[in-house]
Amino acid sequence: MMPVAMPDLAKRDLVSIEDLSTAEILELFHHADEFRANLGDWSDLCRGAIMATLFFEPSTRTRLSFESAMLRLGGGVITAADEKNTSRSKGESLADTVRVVGGSYADILVVRHPEDGAARVAARYARVPVVNGGDGAHEHPTQTLCDLYTLWKEKGRLEGLEVVLCGDLRYSRTIHSFCYALARFGANIVTMPYPGFELPDYVLHRLRRNFGVQTAAASVADLPGIAGSSNAAAYLTASTPHQLALFTNLTNVEVNRIDAIYMTRAQRERHSGESTANYPRLSRTTLDAAAAKDARIMHPLPRVDEIDYDIDDDPRSIYFRQAELGVPMRMALMAFLLGRIQLRAARPAALSTSPGIVAGAGLRCRNERCITNNEGVRYLVRDFRLCESETPPVLACAYCEREVEARFVGDAASRSFHRYSAAEARQVRGEQRVYFESEAQALAAGFSPGVEGA
Ligand code: NCD
Repeated sequence: MMPVAMPDLAKRDLVSIEDLSTAEILELFHHADEFRANLGDWSDLCRGAIMATLFFEPSTRTRLSFESAMLRLGGGVITAADEKNTSRSKGESLADTVRVVGGSYADILVVRHPEDGAARVAARYARVPVVNGGDGAHEHPTQTLCDLYTLWKEKGRLEGLEVVLCGDLRYSRTIHSFCYALARFGANIVTMPYPGFELPDYVLHRLRRNFGVQTAAASVADLPGIAGSSNAAAYLTASTPHQLALFTNLTNVEVNRIDAIYMTRAQRERHSGESTANYPRLSRTTLDAAAAKDARIMHPLPRVDEIDYDIDDDPRSIYFRQAELGVPMRMALMAFLLGRIQLRAARPAALSTSPGIVAGAGLRCRNERCITNNEGVRYLVRDFRLCESETPPVLACAYCEREVEARFVGDAASRSFHRYSAAEARQVRGEQRVYFESEAQALAAGFSPGVEGA
């Protein structure tokens, strides 16, 4: 196995939406406004720079808007848009591809890949900035930038907005990045999942840990059309920047005003045969509801059947605008990551690239779609970060963020292990500590049961 490439902290990647601070995002909006005012005026800004788009999954908008953005900035574009025509089809790893392409071939990479956590791998192995163009069901941070930018322009603010997320919340990577950002900006989220496609627990836990998000049952009775598809609406609100006092009685929330409804298609390519009969669909009836009077209808596109074509002309339907604003937004991001514009705002305090705990032979990510359980089996060292130091501690995969409980702790020097307890863990020096989820996992890794209390 190759050692985990240590992140180059001098370059900035965008793997998660949390790799940009709130103030940086707002500053990028202002740059996007400037670019948008005259898209043709910027062809000197990134002259000489080359962007490579490495797309190992289908894409229309994301790839083409990145390429258009780069060409409008005066840079060049090289692309691998069909994995059948790349060495991936011969078995080349993503790590090798980005090591080759990032550098003399290209100054920045945009990567889309079907495996959760792939963007982190690309960022670790490439010498140049990497932008996540969507990695499996994990995140899609640049779609979120476009979504936030569009909503911010429509509503003049993000704080305090009531945003309904609807459809396949489980596998939509756009939803995951979007809800982290909404919580950070102080918007409230109403989830209306298609039954069985709720937000994953690890997303909810991260919302709770990072933003103090509280969850309550929601009633969106006055929302015909989509309300009927789900009886499990939930209201998510972050503790900051709201005043906590407002939400001390958050037991059941009646949502009477909706600022945006964000619809997503069923992510069929990530399903394992689950039925999506009666998937929600937005129609004129939904828009006619009193609560939706000032709502904006959003969708990352492509649309399949989730939004009736006959509401496309309603001024509240802004999904094509989201796609259009993708170009100036991505121009701003590219110019920033290539160092052609500087932001005054500070970067996030903890970048998601900060090194985690190398659990080595210990834990295995429980997410079967994680890159560490797929192509990465050949070369990635598993890497987890501690997110809750309770007993047992909770660790998250540093690639796809899926959580595991470390119920056992071992000592890499003596190769013995114990059921986790704070006392047992203290006996083992930090860098020698190896976590396991189960006894079987520890035994399989060649560790022997230690004498309790020894
Ligand atoms: C989304 C994606 O690829 O995740 N598309 C996009 O980039 N605009 C949404 C989707 O495919 O449903």
